[in-house]
Amino acid sequence: MADETVFPTGDLMKGKKGVVMGVANQNSIAWGITQQLAAQGAEIALTYLGEGLERRVRPLGESVGIKTFVQADVGDDASMDAAFAEIEKEFGGELDFLVHSVAFANKDELKGSFIDNTTREGFLTAMNISVFSFVDSARRAAKLMKPGGSIITMTYLGSERTIPNYNTMGVAKAGLEAATRYAARDLGAKGIRVNAISAGAMRTLSLAGISGGRGMIAQGRSFSALKEDTSMEGVAGAALWLLSNLGMSTTGEVVHVDAGFHIIGLPEDLAEG
Ligand SMILES: NC(=O)c1ccc[n+]([C@@H]2O[C@H](COP(=O)([O-])OP(=O)(O)OC[C@H]3O[C@@H](n4cnc5c(N)ncnc54)[C@H](O)[C@@H]3O)[C@@H](O)[C@H]2O)c1
Repeated sequence: MADETVFPTGDLMKGKKGVVMGVANQNSIAWGITQQLAAQGAEIALTYLGEGLERRVRPLGESVGIKTFVQADVGDDASMDAAFAEIEKEFGGELDFLVHSVAFANKDELKGSFIDNTTREGFLTAMNISVFSFVDSARRAAKLMKPGGSIITMTYLGSERTIPNYNTMGVAKAGLEAATRYAARDLGAKGIRVNAISAGAMRTLSLAGISGGRGMIAQGRSFSALKEDTSMEGVAGAALWLLSNLGMSTTGEVVHVDAGFHIIGLPEDLAEG
């Protein structure tokens, strides 16, 4: 069972089937979203990158009643073909939602000077795994969706403003946000919504790969309007809104769930100095 004290239970996702991509461990943003969707009655398939991760992902998923676990490497067409064929079979050819919570860049791209440290190979890897994967997954999922379908992806403020060390990933997130709008335009004609959640810094495996990642959390907290960390409940709650019928008129949007970090231009101590 999902933890009811953290993730409210209800029927908002009852009868909806969907795929969550990007659970690696109990700290993954995708896992918070999964728990919230399960607590609202969703039927979920979890995809995981490789066999090593299955050992962690399966017990997590089973703890909230998930039965479908599918290996999917977003960088490999054959793996994606097989994964979506399995998902189509498991869910009788119908999908209501997709959560894309996947990103990767080499550690060397995520430190120091953006100009000096960005390589062709590293740049293309980040774009492939963090941006193209979204377009590819959304296309595959949308083929199985009826009007009312909903797709979300995860982004960060480093797309809009420069954040030390975020570098190539900031450029990738800018691409991801543009891809969200283009996908929303195309799929809108079919009644399918596409949105991105721009979360504040959270303590996950991905953040650990960014030089000074812990500082991103501390600074995010102290510069935020709410003066607090971004919560998993807040991010999962926004995902529930966008993926359920509550989000029915919202598409092509980047929703900031970052305790108001993105609205701050100058912090108080600098403004007073
Ligand atoms: N943690 C943060 O501070 C933060 C803030 C805003 C946005 N985000 C975004 O949220 C998303 C999820 O990241 P997270 O912080 O939960 O970290 P995470 O490491 O738990 O999740 C990243 C996921 O990407 C998967 N992945 C990487 N390469 C893959 C591939 N080739 N094929 C399939 N899956 C692959 C990993 O297995 C992992 O499950 C990412 O897009 C990240 O950029 C994170």
